[in-house]
Amino acid sequence: MTDPPRILEVANVETVYHDVVRVLRGVSLSVPQGAIVALLGPNGAGKTTTLRAISGLLSVHEGKITKGRVVFSGQDLGSSSPESRVASGLAQVMEGRRIFAELSVEENLLAGTWHRQRSEVREDLQRYYDRFGLLRERRQQAAGYLSGGEQQMLAISRSLMTRPRLLLLDEPSLGLAPKIVADVADLIREVHASGVSILLVEQNAALALQLSEHAYILENGRVVLDGTSEALLQDDDVREFYLGMGGEERRSYREVKHYRRRKRWLS
Ligand SMILES: Nc1ncnc2c1ncn2[C@@H]1O[C@H](COP(=O)(O)OP(=O)(O)OP(=O)(O)O)[C@@H](O)[C@H]1O
Ligand SMILES: [Mg+2]
Repeated sequence: MTDPPRILEVANVETVYHDVVRVLRGVSLSVPQGAIVALLGPNGAGKTTTLRAISGLLSVHEGKITKGRVVFSGQDLGSSSPESRVASGLAQVMEGRRIFAELSVEENLLAGTWHRQRSEVREDLQRYYDRFGLLRERRQQAAGYLSGGEQQMLAISRSLMTRPRLLLLDEPSLGLAPKIVADVADLIREVHASGVSILLVEQNAALALQLSEHAYILENGRVVLDGTSEALLQDDDVREFYLGMGGEERRSYREVKHYRRRKRWLS
């Protein structure tokens, strides 16, 4: 059996910020064409940095890749600009629903569409207005007045307006009420069903493992575990640390593993 083609391949990537702060220490991961892959890990593990290395936004944060490569759709992205990556079908929805608060809802939706035909853009606008009636109602209002959940829908819709083939989602459920998280999950499923591959960064591991088929766990800039999401959902260590089902005090994945080994050794 041959592996499915990969839309994204991150190979041994190392990064630094400001030429001194090393964050990623050789991260490798891949996203098969048409899959949802999750990237999990505690605060500061380097999840957002990984997405920035893929989208090219590292440079905006005084960061750069010092080793390894990012291959999208068979093309080594090298040091290509974030704009050219968007034009080639790669979109990132940033952490914290980074919408343009002072711009109207419609201006937000149009923000990433410079490379597209006007007729297609009009068609997509209608599509998202049909999907989210509220965005149509509020299309002339400043986006900053939308609720958190509405802003997340707008942020995802805005990135879809660029017609991506791979969507990078950074913590889409963060800070949202459970009902809204369910809506965001439905939207992610919908986007996936329309043929878009997704790399999903989440701290909500239960949600991410339900949505994805494969997952990577990142700690201190390294992948410490990866496997099918089904297998990770059953993994005792993952359940204990990430899903909070073990009743133990929360520790890092590596610490939990060490602790469990010692417990077995003592018994
Ligand atoms: N612009 C920057 N300059 C210097 N250090 C940075 C910069 N951005 C991030 N870092 C550092 O890189 C490390 C990884 O950060 P990153 O935001 O990638 O982690 P994360 O896994 O996304 O965490 P979180 O769950 O909090 O979003 C952290 O120690 C952070 O302080
Ligand atoms: Mg982050």
